[in-house]
Amino acid sequence: MIITIGSTKGGVGKSSVAVNLAAELSRQNVRCVIVDADPTATAHTWGQDRGERSPEVPHITVTPLRGQIRKNLLDLEEAYGTVLVDVGGHDSQEFRQAGVTSDLLIIPTTTSQPDLDSLGKVAPLLEEFKTFNPDMTVRGLFNRIETNPQSAGRLTEARAYVAADFPEIPFYDAIMHDRKAYQDVMRVGRGVIEWNDYKAKAEFQVLVKEIQND
Ligand SMILES: Nc1ncnc2c1ncn2[C@@H]1O[C@H](COP(=O)(O)OP(=O)(O)O)[C@@H](O)[C@H]1O
Ligand SMILES: [Mg+2]
Repeated sequence: MIITIGSTKGGVGKSSVAVNLAAELSRQNVRCVIVDADPTATAHTWGQDRGERSPEVPHITVTPLRGQIRKNLLDLEEAYGTVLVDVGGHDSQEFRQAGVTSDLLIIPTTTSQPDLDSLGKVAPLLEEFKTFNPDMTVRGLFNRIETNPQSAGRLTEARAYVAADFPEIPFYDAIMHDRKAYQDVMRVGRGVIEWNDYKAKAEFQVLVKEIQND
């Protein structure tokens, strides 16, 4: 199983989803590897911090890869079973190779209008991926939703907007709220499921269940 967390937009939570997903899979004893295909190296740094600062949690291998990564992804799938690919926030060779190789593409976005508009840049890429990889499942994921109940309307509006404009990207029901825990865990190489914010842990596990039931 190859899962790419991708978008043409930076800062929407791709790396956060990748590393938190790896942490939850590891807790479930599902073998996985993270491929960091972004020169920014967020996931790679997280993996190093995990080894150095959180030795008591399960080890997770993070492999940096660049360029023509399709063959490497297939080899890693053979070796590990599950491969999580964290790509950079732009149209890159790595994103394209991952897009024609993955079983599942998760596209995180916030509900901000610029982030929603940028889905318009992903949509044509999806067309291309589908030509070579027609069986890939594509899902959107709302991230950084405000916890303030007065903001609930914004999520409803965003759901209506993407359903109308991007029907090729069906969104998960599960969401990630904007929570300090998602930032705090990065510094020590952990996932929120290995942290003390039980709301973050619970919502992330609900998301992973939905991903696994797809
Ligand atoms: N749900 C969230 N709540 C709070 N901060 C978040 C959340 N998701 C991501 N962030 C923060 O937003 C920034 C960008 O996230 P990141 O996962 O690196 O995005 P990307 O990989 O798409 O560029 C990071 O500082 C990260 O800690
Ligand atoms: Mg990133």
